Amino acid sequence: MQKLEVFGPNKLKGKIDISGSKNASLPILAATLLSNRKIYLKNLPKVKDIETMINLLKSLGSKIKFKKKILIINNTKQTNKIASYKLMKTMRAGILVLGPLLAKFGHAKVSLPGGCAIGTRPIDIHLKSLAKLGVKYKIDQGYVHAMAPKGLVGTKIRFSKISVGATENLIIASSLAKGVTILKNCALEPEIKDLVNFLNKVGCNIKWIAKRSIKISGVKEINENSYSIMFDRIEAGTYLIAAAITAGNLRIKNIKSDFLKTEIDILKRIGSKIKVKKNEIYIRGAKKIKSINLKTAPWPGLATDLQAQMMVLLCKANKSSVIQENIFENRFMHVSELNRMGAKISIKGNKALINGNTKFAAAELMATDLRASVSLVLAALTTKGRSIINRIYHLDRGYESIEKKLRRVGAKIKRLK
Ligand code: EPZ
Repeated sequence: MQKLEVFGPNKLKGKIDISGSKNASLPILAATLLSNRKIYLKNLPKVKDIETMINLLKSLGSKIKFKKKILIINNTKQTNKIASYKLMKTMRAGILVLGPLLAKFGHAKVSLPGGCAIGTRPIDIHLKSLAKLGVKYKIDQGYVHAMAPKGLVGTKIRFSKISVGATENLIIASSLAKGVTILKNCALEPEIKDLVNFLNKVGCNIKWIAKRSIKISGVKEINENSYSIMFDRIEAGTYLIAAAITAGNLRIKNIKSDFLKTEIDILKRIGSKIKVKKNEIYIRGAKKIKSINLKTAPWPGLATDLQAQMMVLLCKANKSSVIQENIFENRFMHVSELNRMGAKISIKGNKALINGNTKFAAAELMATDLRASVSLVLAALTTKGRSIINRIYHLDRGYESIEKKLRRVGAKIKRLK
């Protein structure tokens, strides 16, 4: 099993190019199932979850090839409507194929998904909302068996809770439904806006009609077109924190700074010096990091996907801080490993109390989920001596060439096979 070896302490200096967004690519790839034509996608990140989604699409009959970094998806002969456990077990976003398969064929069998162990992560909101479009379903032996005897029919749906995945699944499914669908209490993450932009580009008719409401007028078919996926704002946020935590000096490129306002604001408040341009950010980390209390929240709040990274940063702050995790009930898996490195973090319910002034000690560590893994890399970067991070397949699910990108800005980091 591959490991990462980090020799610290490191001070990062230079520029980092941010890759395409994993969490925007996944629903867009699923949405290509709606089409009977060719779709061309640019700026997909080279990460494991995207590979898994491509394999899932292939298993459903999509013909897929890369030509000069452009992914060409041809669904002319796509026929299979069964998404197997083998491909769904490692990636929760697999559930996003349910909506398009139902919209296109009127029936589908999709395995219940796996994914990062960060909470119970049910799919009840996806299923209840699809039922309102006319879907009948049952769960049997780990599979959702779903059918829409009269096809999908547009209606008004209010999500009981803000869910990124359920919003995406319903936007995709409603795009080919008969009539008009209004979705209320939608998630507003930039990745959802990217999905809507993609769908409108291939001929769908989707409009935001109020802050969390969207109107989808069903269309009969999807056009051939190309689309370039947005940048990965969580990857960008992670490297901004890497600069802040190592008192480094980084230029983060290929981004849209508007999508990072919350993170930039937090980093300024803890003492980093930041210069924002439209498509890049310059950050200089301060020697002294100020403590701050943070809460994760749906967009435009602090992303839960940056909570673990922020926690490592606050371990280095001058006083104690609190982070409240409001999205997932079990997203503190990194805490025990950080405490093994010398952090003093205690958990009470959904709050983590983080004592500041931590001097991390080098250790052999175990990655547990995607963002927890990267938080261990960040801690190791600040630590004197050699740290080893095991089980980095979690990291490879969502960070493109992380060790190469960090090495280019001066980190002593290496993959051990
Ligand atoms: C997406 O997951 C992201 N994944 C996650 O990123 C991210 O952490 C999360 O949104 C929140 O921002 C992708 O985009 C592929 P949710 P998703 O549905 O859609 C509960 C990463 O590290 N819920 O918004 O699964 C759920 O348990 C990953 O890149 C239900 O109760 O998240 C959670 O508490 C991990 N029933 C809350 O809603 C449902 O049917 C928000 O989950 C669906 C969700």
